[in-house]
Amino acid sequence: MAITASLKQAVPASVKHKIKDWIGIKDAPSPPPKKPVEYWIDVVSGCNLRCTACPVGMPEFSNSIGQSLQEMEPDLFEQICIKAKQDTEGNLRIGLYNWTEPTLHSRLDQLIAIALKHEIPCGISSNLNHDYDWTKLKPFKLWNFTITVSGFTQKTYAINHKGGRIEPVLANLIRISETLSDWESYKDIDVRYLVHRDNKHEVHLFKHFCDKLGLKFTPYHAYYMPIDRMFEGLDGIPDGFDYIEYSPQMVSQAIGSHRSQRCFMRDSQVTLDMEGNYSVCCVESPSSPRLGNYLEDSYSDMQKKRVSSELCAKCTNKGINIFATYGYEEPVEIQEAIKNTLGTDLNSLLTPAQ
Ligand SMILES: C[S@@+](CC[C@H](N)C(=O)[O-])C[C@H]1O[C@@H](n2cnc3c(N)ncnc32)[C@H](O)[C@@H]1O
Ligand code: SF4
Ligand code: SF4
Repeated sequence: MAITASLKQAVPASVKHKIKDWIGIKDAPSPPPKKPVEYWIDVVSGCNLRCTACPVGMPEFSNSIGQSLQEMEPDLFEQICIKAKQDTEGNLRIGLYNWTEPTLHSRLDQLIAIALKHEIPCGISSNLNHDYDWTKLKPFKLWNFTITVSGFTQKTYAINHKGGRIEPVLANLIRISETLSDWESYKDIDVRYLVHRDNKHEVHLFKHFCDKLGLKFTPYHAYYMPIDRMFEGLDGIPDGFDYIEYSPQMVSQAIGSHRSQRCFMRDSQVTLDMEGNYSVCCVESPSSPRLGNYLEDSYSDMQKKRVSSELCAKCTNKGINIFATYGYEEPVEIQEAIKNTLGTDLNSLLTPAQ
């Protein structure tokens, strides 16, 4: 300790390293960089689809049924960006969606430009049913661009993507490949296929289609949303959810009595609605009462309210936080137990069955 402290004072860095090597002192490894805080911000008030497992289409949880679409004003978005950057010392990224469809915002490109002006990585996730002018994205480097699908034919796609049509999705994918294939973010576009009991046979077809267009393709297990349905799912299968295999009961069996207080959705994510109000986390239903307004409360007050919420207490007590995070933060044996109960290896679906 004394040697290293006195070395700090007068000796040039290169010499210091040599002396330290010579007397056998190892530099402490620098701490791993802190993960950026992820903000999920709804920039419009609703969505054009009514997916089966999404609260947007459930009258009791919806943010938009029967209401006209509203847009977040760029000024409000910029104020949120400025505060978020201060709150996180610049270590953040923003997804312009949570329970909505970002391509419905008529000035989406302006919002992205604002985030990037403040050096905040920014991304979108889309159902691709809306014919957005994709060339408007070209001036920007996006942090993520997820395209969510669940089937290659209309019959299969409609099981989960209610109100959606696969034809414009495929047409938009082709249009994107035609207009954006030389865009720097093209390689980061991720076509996310939500796998469930009745759409596995079309995974390889969609993968093949994406391969032809040079697009990344990732299968994921579809799951229950919002959190109210996850709780219900511990006691039985909620109406209409029988096609989803990754269920709370299944995870509950896999984890047994294991519980954890960890939850990255609470500790390193922030979820805001179109008015800048924050909720406990991204799986809380859009109709639940908001905890406060992001611009009015300090970051630490917001976190205190979230951590001490009844919802988090109930969720961690029942192990739903493990279900909601696919067990990513749990010990390897818990992750393995969840994987084994699931049965389906997603990678095996990428090629046609022999
Ligand atoms: C609710 S969506 C909102 C954004 C956009 N409307 C979309 O569907 O991509 C937010 C994220 O949830 C994911 N998602 C939607 N339905 C899901 C489900 N049943 N299970 C797991 N993830 C789902 C989507 O891939 C998307 O990135
Ligand atoms: S998952 Fe996305 S596309 Fe489907 S209803 Fe929800 S917000 Fe809309
Ligand atoms: S513990 Fe549950 S309620 Fe709390 S943030 Fe995590 S998933 Fe949401």
